[in-house]
Amino acid sequence: MAIQSTETQESLREMLQEFYGRQIQKTADLETNACCDVDTMAKHARVVSMVPAAATEKYLGCGSPIPDDLPTLKGLTALDLGSGSGVDAMILRFYLGPNGHMIGLDMTGEQLELARRSGVEFMQKLNYDPGSLEFVEGFMETADGIPDESVDLIISNCVVNLSPRKDLVFETMHRVLKPGGEVFFSDIVADRRTDLMDDEILVAECLGMAPYVHDARDMLQDAGFTDPRFFSRRRLAPNQRVLDRGDLTNFDSVIWRAFKLPDMDRRCEDYGQIAVYKGNMAGSPATFTLDEGHVFEAGRPMSVCRNTARMLMETRLRAYFEVTGATKHFGLFADCGTESAAALDSENSGACC
Ligand SMILES: C[S@@+](CC[C@H](N)C(=O)[O-])C[C@H]1O[C@@H](n2cnc3c(N)ncnc32)[C@H](O)[C@@H]1O
Repeated sequence: MAIQSTETQESLREMLQEFYGRQIQKTADLETNACCDVDTMAKHARVVSMVPAAATEKYLGCGSPIPDDLPTLKGLTALDLGSGSGVDAMILRFYLGPNGHMIGLDMTGEQLELARRSGVEFMQKLNYDPGSLEFVEGFMETADGIPDESVDLIISNCVVNLSPRKDLVFETMHRVLKPGGEVFFSDIVADRRTDLMDDEILVAECLGMAPYVHDARDMLQDAGFTDPRFFSRRRLAPNQRVLDRGDLTNFDSVIWRAFKLPDMDRRCEDYGQIAVYKGNMAGSPATFTLDEGHVFEAGRPMSVCRNTARMLMETRLRAYFEVTGATKHFGLFADCGTESAAALDSENSGACC
């Protein structure tokens, strides 16, 4: 990844602050279709109905960064990097329950103001401690003020692509997460290294600096997330502004899932382990999806690599699985989540809005 001068990074930040703070007042003001996902709104309609309209009208996400395993979220401390108008932070705050704590972080004053105002109204409806939903000013590359190993879950929605120093963003995620904690974030990735940075609209609307998928994966691994997985992937419709430049880059809206677990295997290794989903997660009696390569059917034994076994047994998911085996090594494990993350071959699924 090319690292830009501090001056270039500073002017990029100013451009983005102007764009998100003043230029864009609502989702419909966007020119492209990358940051306009409707999944979250539909999936969490009941909670969204409590979120003030001023915030939902300025929702600029590209996926739903709320993990499906809702019952496991109770009491967690969570952080939303680039929280914008605060919609995802408010939705997640609801699922964290009365004892949870939610922090939204953003660098744009107007976004923070809107999120804070909306958050006060939202928390009155929830009747939770108002101090347990905070919106703080900061840069996701450093997240100053967020202590080391203080957060259980990090989410983010269509923001990481905007950073010229994604390596630092991933290092910061790793720093602030507790051991066993997770990043679950939605973002745009490209099937090649692009040359679109001179187009401010493409940059601000999340395509121009979208990372080449393999670079993103390498950076996550270098930061300590040894085995990042895709929870989901959706191909964006071809973008006319990009095509007009004679550029055939494909963009996907993806959800990354990565756990902070020390000494994970660099490849999927077979230790003869079998995992069984107990079917005891409220709302998911039949199946549990860990990632796009691992959908567990309740009660059905499934061979898993050691990394997957650890994701199930050394995290908040442990109450829902039984894992046996792990006596000796049988070589490489075929077709694990790591392999699926290496490919970017989704079919086109049409425009996102
Ligand atoms: C595309 S919007 C997404 C907002 C929100 N996540 C949502 O889904 O509505 C990008 C947001 O990221 C913020 N942002 C961009 N770069 C940032 C950085 N380096 N540090 C913190 N926030 C940043 C912007 O201020 C803006 O609010």
